[in-house]
Amino acid sequence: MQLPKFLDNNPLVNRLPTEVKTKVEAWMDNVNTILTIENMGVLKSMGPSAMRGLFLQMGRRQTAEMKSNHSAHFNFSYPSDNGAMKSLYEKAKRLQWNGSVDLDWSTPVDPFNRNIPLIGEGFVDWNLLGGFGIRFNEREQSEFLWRITSWMLSQFLHGEQGALMASAQVTEATPIFDGKYYGATQVMDEARHVEVFSRYLDSKLERRYDINDNLFTIIDGLMTDSRWDMKFLGMQILVEGLALGAFGTMYKMTSEPLLKELLRLVIQDEARHVHFGLLALKPLYNGGLSEKERIEREDWAFEIVLLMRNRFLAHELYEEGFAHRMSRREWNFFMDEMPGMSMFRRVMFKRLVPNLRAIGLLSPRILHRYEQVGLGDFIHLPASSELSDRDLSAA
Ligand SMILES: [Fe+2]
Ligand SMILES: [Fe+2]
Repeated sequence: MQLPKFLDNNPLVNRLPTEVKTKVEAWMDNVNTILTIENMGVLKSMGPSAMRGLFLQMGRRQTAEMKSNHSAHFNFSYPSDNGAMKSLYEKAKRLQWNGSVDLDWSTPVDPFNRNIPLIGEGFVDWNLLGGFGIRFNEREQSEFLWRITSWMLSQFLHGEQGALMASAQVTEATPIFDGKYYGATQVMDEARHVEVFSRYLDSKLERRYDINDNLFTIIDGLMTDSRWDMKFLGMQILVEGLALGAFGTMYKMTSEPLLKELLRLVIQDEARHVHFGLLALKPLYNGGLSEKERIEREDWAFEIVLLMRNRFLAHELYEEGFAHRMSRREWNFFMDEMPGMSMFRRVMFKRLVPNLRAIGLLSPRILHRYEQVGLGDFIHLPASSELSDRDLSAA
């Protein structure tokens, strides 16, 4: 459902001072997000998280409490109940690495060195920015690229903290015993990921941004949901699937050797995490749920995808340095058209959307909604489970 025209393109809003207009536009964006939800079950489960994340902006505080509502599932017969997860567990034990010794932290990193760019200059369309009356010299361009890299890595870091907490919950809540063994290795993996991203941001880039309100909403939604499979779906398939694409894109874009090696190690773990989610959910969503329950998951996944597709627009950067120079709508357009961001979006959804199909959450009833938001091209591509490990790390 779209926001009524009288709110979205109101001439009175256009006449407001930029600062006030920006606040009104942010509020309208948030209302718009809520209005896209068509499923009452999804509204009930995501509504409180959207309130905390989007309207109260609780992610901008230093700490946050998310109340968990799931049960820890014990099994005193210690069954061997999932051979594929058991193999994944063995593989995860073999491939543990140590960020303090396997990465060369003595590597000097200079975000302003144009010979070893954090990300390429082609990431941003400087002419488009010029069209809004903002022209950057070389130094300012480097500064912008440093800020946008720091912003992206900060979101990776916050997502990793979400993954650390969620994988701990998944380990408790899953009824699959081999899933608990494997889940414990993922908790360790995620701790390492938090450690290395945090260390890189603090010691090399010296800049960290708040968690994006949309990302906070997603994490809050899956952490507070009482159903174990929603945690798998939200974290293992959606957030991790997106992260895998984002890390791979950043890996290809950066020339900075320490960041490149850090990402290589993290990517190797993340491919396993997505695979774990597919193994857990495929049998459940293909016959293990009532049709009403399956539909709720299908709609929930679409809303999360939409939240990530349309709203991941780096408003933290906008508020930091652009709110007085251009409107929020102009910023959204600039971000949407940014070549680097378009590439990120393409790579991220290329695997994520087919993975939803693979677990049975892309039935014909929902396809038109994916097509409407420009994600129709990804529907028939191969899912992670249909690719070899080599393809996955190259993806
Ligand atoms: Fe991770
Ligand atoms: Fe992960």
